[in-house]
Amino acid sequence: MKVTVVGAGNVGASCAEYIAQNEISSKVVLLDIKEGFAEGKALDLFQTATTLGFNTSITGVTNDYSATAESDVVVITSGVPRKPGMSREELIGINAGIVKKVSESILKYSPDTIIVVVSNPMDTMTYLTFKSTGLPKNRIIGMGGALDSSRFKTYLSIALNKPANDIQGMVIGGHGDTTMIPLTRLASYNGAPVSQYLDSQILEKVASETMVGGATLTKLLGTSAWYAPGASVAFLLDSILNDYKRMIPCSVFLEGEYGLDNLCIGVPCIIGANGIESIVDVKLNNSEQSLLNASADKIHEMNTALSDIL
Ligand code: 2OP
Repeated sequence: MKVTVVGAGNVGASCAEYIAQNEISSKVVLLDIKEGFAEGKALDLFQTATTLGFNTSITGVTNDYSATAESDVVVITSGVPRKPGMSREELIGINAGIVKKVSESILKYSPDTIIVVVSNPMDTMTYLTFKSTGLPKNRIIGMGGALDSSRFKTYLSIALNKPANDIQGMVIGGHGDTTMIPLTRLASYNGAPVSQYLDSQILEKVASETMVGGATLTKLLGTSAWYAPGASVAFLLDSILNDYKRMIPCSVFLEGEYGLDNLCIGVPCIIGANGIESIVDVKLNNSEQSLLNASADKIHEMNTALSDIL
């Protein structure tokens, strides 16, 4: 199996690191536009193989898409990350051109690949990739829900003072500070609803911490986060390349599912060898559906900024 990660910045390199360490793919190609940067990151990572005992090969290239030929999955992390105080939405203008060009170059050499979009604003960049490539919707996956859900479960575990892996929960909606929807009603501590242990005030606090999870890190780090985003991409790729068919919230093009149309937004999906194998219909209550509708309205509005490029 071959994976290409476009963008050897923090998220891209981290993602390559987790893929290699967990031997999710036999080959990883890192590509970046900055001369020598991907080569350096790849070599540094590859030099950990004998110490850590993994068999994945990692190579780096400067903007040479021929090296990415016949990738099974390509991850797009290109573009600029946000700075403290910036919203993901403010990046549309800069990142749209980059993401469109990257997806065109990828498809020249890997026409059958599945594309995972990480660049922000992620839902809009996923929509752009879907529309501009014309690929079937199962092959364009926006990575946001996996990350937001991992942050949600982490904050729940802190509030409950229980191990993170004993917590189940998911975040749907947009990958934005005001568009994501942590489904607190459905979250559980080993199957028992978390509402049995946390009162509504604490649950609201957990939900708000989750929603600004990325912004909190951007403020602390001075740039956007990379360990959790990189690990979430690897988690998604593990399910694709091993055809595990895990249920993971992902941004996908909707055509009536959840009553929404003509946008990419986070909903629970079955992820396997064909990418998005199916969209899972989780029964939402009225207030959750209204939040999803409001989130969709904001994403539709953001997508109008793509009119010049699409
Ligand atoms: C985040 O939420 C990078 O958007 C990503 O950290």
